[in-house]
Amino acid sequence: MKTFPLEPIEHAPLEELRALQLERLRASLQHAYDNVAQYRRKFDAAGVRPEDCRALADLAKFPFTTKQDLRETYPFGMFAVPMDRVVRIHASSGTTGKPTVVGYTAKDIDTWSQLMARSIRAAGARPGDKVHVAYGYGLFTGGLGAHYGAERLGLAVIPLGGGMTERQVQLIEDFKPEIIMVTPSYMLAIADEMQRQGLDPKRSSLRLGIFGAEPWTNEMRRNIEQRLSLEAIDIYGLSEVMGPGVAQECLETKDGLTIWEDHFYPEIVDPATGTPLADGEKGELVFTSLTKEALPVIRYRTRDLTRLLPGTARSMRRMEKITGRSDDMLIIRGVNVFPSQIEELILKQAELSPHYLLELTREGPLDHLSVLVEMRPECDGWPQAKKDAASAQLAHNVKSYIGVSAEVRVLPLSAIERSVGKAKRVIDKRR
Ligand code: DLL
Repeated sequence: MKTFPLEPIEHAPLEELRALQLERLRASLQHAYDNVAQYRRKFDAAGVRPEDCRALADLAKFPFTTKQDLRETYPFGMFAVPMDRVVRIHASSGTTGKPTVVGYTAKDIDTWSQLMARSIRAAGARPGDKVHVAYGYGLFTGGLGAHYGAERLGLAVIPLGGGMTERQVQLIEDFKPEIIMVTPSYMLAIADEMQRQGLDPKRSSLRLGIFGAEPWTNEMRRNIEQRLSLEAIDIYGLSEVMGPGVAQECLETKDGLTIWEDHFYPEIVDPATGTPLADGEKGELVFTSLTKEALPVIRYRTRDLTRLLPGTARSMRRMEKITGRSDDMLIIRGVNVFPSQIEELILKQAELSPHYLLELTREGPLDHLSVLVEMRPECDGWPQAKKDAASAQLAHNVKSYIGVSAEVRVLPLSAIERSVGKAKRVIDKRR
């Protein structure tokens, strides 16, 4: 029978992995310095040369790279190879300003496909599985990343992309895919549509969901797993570093995401000062690419908050599930609040649905938080008094667990706009 064996490096001894990382790191620093003016300028200003990196810890001497560097050199100024070696360009939309543009050589696409194949296998794919891809195709890296990886693994890819939710449901019914790759928020919209069509989401053919591209809590995981009777596995990545497949949760442990450290070197730094933190401490995730050709990234500040943990299912280190970004943090009357904290509380109430939106306004000098949330479809017909009790309960929990006053508004079914990709959870009208 056909099987999907692990790659040797996935269970290599740590010394072997560290030696490979150092060799690749030195080459990557040299490549960036030799071929990208922005890196040369920044290394020179910091007084460091690629050859100063003699041990992995020396990386801390090198300057950080941020989204700002990509903006300043828009569109292609950070590319380290001539355009005749670039075979693909992606871009991330970004909510403000110009998109960030990333490029790939043929070898980069090959590496990415390989790492996505490794990720999909780690998530629990089996030979013969069909993969329904509902991540967006196009400039977003989700669709094509998933597509190339599933194909590389030898699975049958069904390339739907995002949107046309009725059709998504119809094709899941007809083609009976075992795996779906989609944002967790769009999975919920697809499940709603199944119910609207009179189908039981639990009885669909789906056995495994590979969900990412946006923060989602373990409460959301349980919600999706129960509702659709499948395994919900986390996948992480960002376009600047590659796209999806930088880190992947393994089915056998489901204990955070294994970072594919043979290609991406992770650090955790204090988000305020940039000081490197020890493994186990929570801070901002920073990546240095070890093998990328077209767009090497050196100490790229992701803004994602997590901690590094020792390897379990694989030799490589894991990162804890990401439930927030430093720039997602809301400051409400002086209290720091992450949307994921409110998501957790919503999902602790069996009558509330995972469709929610946080709205911030200013009333005079004071911030005002409204939590807009729908009831679960089966509770939507409840009498008003019971709905009021549900919203009072949530307001009480937000106040006592998070420390801010919130006005909770329970809305009718489908009142909150469904995303077909990354969900928008916050509307901040204060600015
Ligand atoms: O979202 C790549 C991707 C596609 C990952 C499909 C997974 C699946 P960007 O559009 O550049 O790339 O957005 C990257 O999304 O810095 C995180 O803030 C967030 N993010 C991605 N995956 C996760 C995840 C893709 N599993 C940004 N959990 C990242 C939490 C995630 N946040």
